[in-house]
Amino acid sequence: MSDLKIKTYPDKILKKNAIQITDINGKIQTLIDNIVDTMYCASGVGLAAPQVGESKRIIVVDVSEIEKKCSLMILLNPKIVYNEGEVVYEEGCLSVPQFKAEIERYERVFVKAINREGNPIEIEGTGLLSRALQHEIDHLNGLLFIDKLNPAERKLFEKTYRKCKIR
Ligand code: CO
Repeated sequence: MSDLKIKTYPDKILKKNAIQITDINGKIQTLIDNIVDTMYCASGVGLAAPQVGESKRIIVVDVSEIEKKCSLMILLNPKIVYNEGEVVYEEGCLSVPQFKAEIERYERVFVKAINREGNPIEIEGTGLLSRALQHEIDHLNGLLFIDKLNPAERKLFEKTYRKCKIR
């Protein structure tokens, strides 16, 4: 078990487009396991590889505390293939500690990916699962939830976040 250090804004790796996984080897599986451990250690509901300094298209999501039917999901090269509806809800991120904001997301998404063993999977997400999937996939494209703030909110964020950051 390994608890990795989580990169925080404005670390440059969070802005990068992560690379596709083409070969699932032991090294990748160890990285996946460490990302899972790191997510649980930080009490997060999701984590993406760039957040631990690895610019690779891997996300892990576990919303089972809130969405009882769900369990841990490990998704490589995830892609949203269908979306529906819109919903606004409060959101935060382990890479932007102590800041939360109301963010609009699709209400429902279908995601195609491959799992830890390299098998193709397709999942449907609603509620928190839908939100977590979109948030984590954004990380793979160098996007943070604060990038979705309107200019006035973003300005306020930059002002207060830099002043109050506790690391
Ligand atoms: Co995040």
